[in-house]
Amino acid sequence: MERKVLVVDDDIESLRLYGEMLRRAGYAAVTASTGWEGIDLAVKEHPGLILLDLRLPDITGLTVLETLRTALSTRNIPIIVVSAISKDDDVMKAMQMGAFDYVVKPITYDDMIRRVELVFFSHERQGEGDQSPVLIVEDSTIDGASLSEQLTSWGYQVTWVQTGREGIAQAATGNFDVILMDGLLPDINGFEVVKEIRATERLGTTPVIMLTVLSGLVDKLKGFESGVDEFLNKPVSWEELRVRIRSLTRLRGMAKQRFALSEVVGVITNAIELAEATEPRHNQKVASISVILGKRLGVQGHGLWVLEMAGSLHDVGKLVVRREVLFKPGKLDPSEWAEIQRHSEYGERIIRPIHGFDEIADIVRHHHEKADGSGYPDHLKGDQVSLLVRIVGVSDSFEALTSDRPYRPAFPRDQALEILHREMDEGHWDPQVIAALSSSLDELDNL
Ligand SMILES: [Fe+2]
Ligand SMILES: [Fe+2]
Repeated sequence: MERKVLVVDDDIESLRLYGEMLRRAGYAAVTASTGWEGIDLAVKEHPGLILLDLRLPDITGLTVLETLRTALSTRNIPIIVVSAISKDDDVMKAMQMGAFDYVVKPITYDDMIRRVELVFFSHERQGEGDQSPVLIVEDSTIDGASLSEQLTSWGYQVTWVQTGREGIAQAATGNFDVILMDGLLPDINGFEVVKEIRATERLGTTPVIMLTVLSGLVDKLKGFESGVDEFLNKPVSWEELRVRIRSLTRLRGMAKQRFALSEVVGVITNAIELAEATEPRHNQKVASISVILGKRLGVQGHGLWVLEMAGSLHDVGKLVVRREVLFKPGKLDPSEWAEIQRHSEYGERIIRPIHGFDEIADIVRHHHEKADGSGYPDHLKGDQVSLLVRIVGVSDSFEALTSDRPYRPAFPRDQALEILHREMDEGHWDPQVIAALSSSLDELDNL
């Protein structure tokens, strides 16, 4: 699926802002400022996701939603509706009409990207509930029983406890995809329970939804500080809970899958090292440098994960290159040089079959491309070389220059940087990536 998002909003400032957020996270964005224009673009561009404002000048967002849902070519495009007010009946109508999720303005970058990533990751992959394990911490017998009943009917596997202590003990098993917690418990305050859970967690972060009668901003801030992901006011709206719990279990699914994939990638990186196909720790270091540079250049979330995976795997194709060519001490003849260059294509072929690794496979294929078209294998030029590719390319070169090689000792950092600057002037490297590297040297000390 192409990572293209259509944003429909009549507010020009919002369009600009969302477009920029999306592009920063590596998505392509198309924008429309009226409902009709939105429908038109949805048909023509076939985006992977539509962000739809419910208040539009010509027709309502609900009409747009309905139209898109009936047309054959657009009915499967997931839609996130955007509302300017927090208790909006139209939002619930939109959810009933099949919207995927909703957000309330103002939208922060993290919130926006998290929701968008969920769509691209989980759309059509997972049924609702799917027996995801959910922990309910609720002392009231009436509330706890009705929550359990609802969640079970939506397909979740529910464990219900009635005190903060039991909640902490259950959460420590790490078995839950989401924790639903009452803010007022008899033994320990809900915020303290969440803090405790956060402190003992080993397998990443379990999302927590806090149910509360307190809705003051101060309480919310305190909650976010202690690690709460979402707040829902009591009495709970079932529709709202249903949407929130669905997106958080998906988020958890995504985190778990990434964790598992990272482990597999770690195994491959081990294999590359054991086969001595690259210098020791070259791949891990390229991964770490890429992530550091990526952060400096505003890459976030999914993009950073992609950088880490691509950095770790960029030279995997060297496993296929003959050892006597790979480590030949003298000059290479043209056919040997061609064989070495093929490592980027071999690498792509090794990685491509992994589900969800398309972007990573692209980077592996292109990590030796240069901005002036002098790289390989496809001689890409300028903008054809994506930001993530440019980052891995610079990280790779810098790592190679600052490491010992059989035929030369490591260059000191300032000298390596000088070499890269010269190559930048020749048109090989992106000046902004080189600038990010120059200002990140301190951070590279501990690699
Ligand atoms: Fe390479
Ligand atoms: Fe490399």
